[in-house]
Amino acid sequence: VKLWHDWLQDNCPTLPNSGQEDLDKDGQGDACDPDDDNDDIVDERDNCPLVYNPRQFDSDRDGVGDRCDNCAFESNPLQTDTDDNGEGDACSIDIDGDEVLNDRDNCPLVYNTDQRDTDLDGVGDQCDNCPLLHNPLQLDSDSDLVGDMCDNNNDIDEDGHQNSLDNCPYIANSNQADHDKDGKGDACDHDDDDDGIPDDRDNCRLVPNRDQLDSDADGSGDACFDDFDNDTIPDALDTCPMNKDISSTDFRKFQVVLLDPKGTTQSDPLWVIRSQGTELLQTANSDPGIALGYDKFSSVDFSVTFYVNTNRDDDFAGIVFSYQSSRRFYVVMWKQVSQAYWEKKPSKAFGIAGVSIKVVNSTTGPGEYLRNALWHTGNTRHQVRTLWHDPNKIGWKDFTAYRMHLIHRPKTGFIRVVVYEGREIISDSGAVYDHTLAGGRLGLFVFSQEHVFFSDLRYECRGMTSS
Ligand SMILES: *[C@@H]1O[C@H](CO)[C@@H](O)[C@H](O)[C@H]1NC(C)=O
Ligand SMILES: *[C@@H]1O[C@H](CO)[C@@H](O)[C@H](O)[C@H]1NC(C)=O
Repeated sequence: VKLWHDWLQDNCPTLPNSGQEDLDKDGQGDACDPDDDNDDIVDERDNCPLVYNPRQFDSDRDGVGDRCDNCAFESNPLQTDTDDNGEGDACSIDIDGDEVLNDRDNCPLVYNTDQRDTDLDGVGDQCDNCPLLHNPLQLDSDSDLVGDMCDNNNDIDEDGHQNSLDNCPYIANSNQADHDKDGKGDACDHDDDDDGIPDDRDNCRLVPNRDQLDSDADGSGDACFDDFDNDTIPDALDTCPMNKDISSTDFRKFQVVLLDPKGTTQSDPLWVIRSQGTELLQTANSDPGIALGYDKFSSVDFSVTFYVNTNRDDDFAGIVFSYQSSRRFYVVMWKQVSQAYWEKKPSKAFGIAGVSIKVVNSTTGPGEYLRNALWHTGNTRHQVRTLWHDPNKIGWKDFTAYRMHLIHRPKTGFIRVVVYEGREIISDSGAVYDHTLAGGRLGLFVFSQEHVFFSDLRYECRGMTSS
């Protein structure tokens, strides 16, 4: 993996482009090459910026040229292709590639050859947000992937999984790791791999090895040598070496959460993905919103390169962690310039320049209350509490790359955010403690700021990831 700050070899030294894509191999990275495919149409006006098409035909007029359109005759500006087979969902008769055609498939977007539908609501178990309760409408008003019909949010250990669906209801384990798939999470299972050797004596805790063979007598069994979770990714390269469900940073699939979906103040955020899911761009001047990854974490480090590629506007961007629902998450948000929010209702909202760490615990969920509370530096009852705000009030600068680094240890409630410009520390929260949320998902956040690049995204599990 090449870092954006490897200036010497960087094919685009002034812009973050962690993937170093360079289609026409002219030595100028696509991110800063005005014409990536050398067809003499500049990228900004090229309907296939990465495919040579000087004539620019676009039969379905969706803004994507025929030569690069995965549905050339069906308007689909977003080009979504769920099964990655090169044919866009808009014109595919089997979107998920499970060989059950869409109109007969009870999970058209999820591969499920078995088509099981226990509650007979027409939605297959594999994609049903309440697989045991009849809820054909699948409403999920707090965006936690659990349908309203079976969502009670009673969550004793506050790890984001309600007791009835938590594989360790009394011990916080946001990642829900369960390596032997016995229904009991590793965090509360005395034998995680079900090999009959209790974890505290097992030289491969996650890989069944009754023989306990350890040829080099280093205390770590042969069965898990260099690959603790046996997920085929060596520990040294594995972003979560003790969790076989997660092995690399991946935002290729993400859930969009709108935090003011009804508001018409601004448009909704528009996210674009690059570089195999390690780079996201947000292009609209938008209402608050989150692009949320699907991996779930307990202890985690998360870093992103933050860059605003415009001199228009001076608002918020940052990261979300321990996301449990659209009512409960932490957010790190960074404002360039202090400013009152132009909508004064329903609550006062004054955002101060600098980095903030806030905990969202909202009784209303997305809407104008949460929107104003998010903007405000300080506390808004029943919505948001500011845990820390940079006393130096240092805002971000236009066209400047920063590295934002988050450390979260839910067990002790430890949170720390450090922002670097080059090697220099621009902002450092030091140790902040909060116990409201014991883990969850990671995401990227924007509020009223366009052209934000989040690149070289990187997360890593820390410590004993079973708890
Ligand atoms: C480790 O995973 C491989 C598949 O990648 C499997 O064949 C092997 O049986 C696993 N090892 C153990 C000890 O379970
Ligand atoms: C979060 O909000 C709920 C009410 O919705 C409240 O019962 C709970 O105490 C709050 N948690 C914290 C840590 O403030």
